[in-house]
Amino acid sequence: MTVFRFSKRQWFVLKLLVFMLCLWPFLSISWDAFNDALGADPIQRLHFVTGDWALRFLLISLTMSPLSQVFKLPLPIRFRRMLGLFSFFYASLHALVWLVLDQSLSLDNMLNELPESPYIILGFIAYLMLWPLALTSNIIAMRALGSKWHSLHRSVYVIAVVGLVHFFWLTKLDISEPLIYAAVLVLLLMFRWPLFKKKLV
Ligand code: HEM
Repeated sequence: MTVFRFSKRQWFVLKLLVFMLCLWPFLSISWDAFNDALGADPIQRLHFVTGDWALRFLLISLTMSPLSQVFKLPLPIRFRRMLGLFSFFYASLHALVWLVLDQSLSLDNMLNELPESPYIILGFIAYLMLWPLALTSNIIAMRALGSKWHSLHRSVYVIAVVGLVHFFWLTKLDISEPLIYAAVLVLLLMFRWPLFKKKLV
């Protein structure tokens, strides 16, 4: 495996660059919100941007180990945790937009909405499943959980499937975007399947 020797300073700059790139959708949507430029339906725009990026970062984080393996580079895998946590960050914003802006934190509103939009239940399930992964994505939890850590973090593939079904379900006309994400997920699963069988990931 090719080992790049980054100095501490280079490594810090690279991490900061990736961090700022990941934060870009948030900064961009905040700028639009601040300037009253979210369009005709601001809440829907917030739903779309945060939901899209939650799913995109989830899938991008999953491509890191295959990239490392195929190109024999250790670098991508070192960004996996940050990318996964950004998925959780955007999913949390996405959930908050619904809970606070859409439903005004009213349980009555939520209970009325759920039978009309059952795909939201799937969104909730995916979001709740992200919590244990976010909470255990640190070295202390990794050491404490040992081999159970890998079993727990394998559930990220289930979360991606649930998130995708949520997306397909709510999409009424053009399904090209969820189809692209589904194709990426199928490729990732095909790549990981031999390792799953051997319980190596
Ligand atoms: C509490 C959890 C969640 C709730 C309440 C929720 C709710 C919603 C709502 C209301 C929409 C907009 C539907 C519309 O206006 O037509 C939406 C869209 C979306 N959600 Fe969620 N969701 C949740 C969790 C998630 C999670 C965890 C993911 C991804 C991992 C996700 C991915 C998406 C995507 C990709 C879209 C569509 C964006 C687009 O059309 O461009 N959601 N969700």
